[in-house]
Amino acid sequence: MKIISVLNHKGGVGKTTFTGSTAQALALLGFRVLAIDNDSQHNLSSLLCMGVKMPNIRQVYLSSPSGAPAQLLRSIFKTEIEDLHIITSCRDLCDADVSDPMLLGRSFHSCGLERFYDYVLIDNAPGIDKLQESAIRASDEIFVPTELKQFAVDGLVEMEKTLSARYPDGAKISRIIPNFYRNTIRQNAFIAALEKLFPGKVTGTHVPLDQVFDEVVTEGKILFLHRLYSRGAAYYLKLVHELFDLDEEEIWEKVMARRKQRISEEARERIVNRKEHQESVI
Ligand SMILES: Nc1ncnc2c1ncn2[C@@H]1O[C@H](COP(=O)(O)OP(=O)(O)O)[C@@H](O)[C@H]1O
Ligand SMILES: [Mg+2]
Repeated sequence: MKIISVLNHKGGVGKTTFTGSTAQALALLGFRVLAIDNDSQHNLSSLLCMGVKMPNIRQVYLSSPSGAPAQLLRSIFKTEIEDLHIITSCRDLCDADVSDPMLLGRSFHSCGLERFYDYVLIDNAPGIDKLQESAIRASDEIFVPTELKQFAVDGLVEMEKTLSARYPDGAKISRIIPNFYRNTIRQNAFIAALEKLFPGKVTGTHVPLDQVFDEVVTEGKILFLHRLYSRGAAYYLKLVHELFDLDEEEIWEKVMARRKQRISEEARERIVNRKEHQESVI
């Protein structure tokens, strides 16, 4: 299981769109994905057509250390996409809810989350405070979607400095994903600058500017279910292959292995149900 925080101290750079689209693409490729909405604006919950559920991430933060793992499992809900699950957020979520920034990460492990998921993606609010710290401490890696503007590039340098000063043992920025790409001379110059500042970290796949991301949100639809053939979805598939270094053959084997596992789980459930039924008849 790999845990990834999607972070950028700027708002409106595509963090939520990235988290939601990447989570959908990974799930459709056969991976088991848990998306966590760690932002009180709960945009990721809306993007995945879930709204606010109860319990949600806030109840996990408010739990006692011994109660948090069970609360975490109780807060997971299914989405319309098979194998994509979510822990939603809520309007009241705030930094003050986080009394221990290690609680989330510890709960992941104590509840044995690695048995159930291949990837956990955590969407964060802009800024770096306690909620983001919780996510960073729970994560293996940090992915940073960014717009291609001077302040954005300057901001990323600052952000990396802040992260390593505040959380020297925490997860590091491992990938930077250029968003809103239009292939202009100016944007390409910013990409070149980013590559110099963060060698090996900037993805070769740049997410194009595409209205489809706004359209699906406005229409309350899910990108990979309703606009699978859009340019935006195609680029996200490409991006996911690059980010997770996916090999088609490996994916296929994984999907087949999972199918076998599911069939045997279903068979087992049928047997158990039958037994319960017999006992209740007796
Ligand atoms: N590649 C893109 N092309 C066009 N619009 C995009 C793209 N990525 C994101 N958007 C739109 O930009 C806005 C901000 O994106 P969002 O993911 O909410 O950013 P953040 O989570 O960083 O605040 C949203 O309206 C979203 O639909
Ligand atoms: Mg967001």
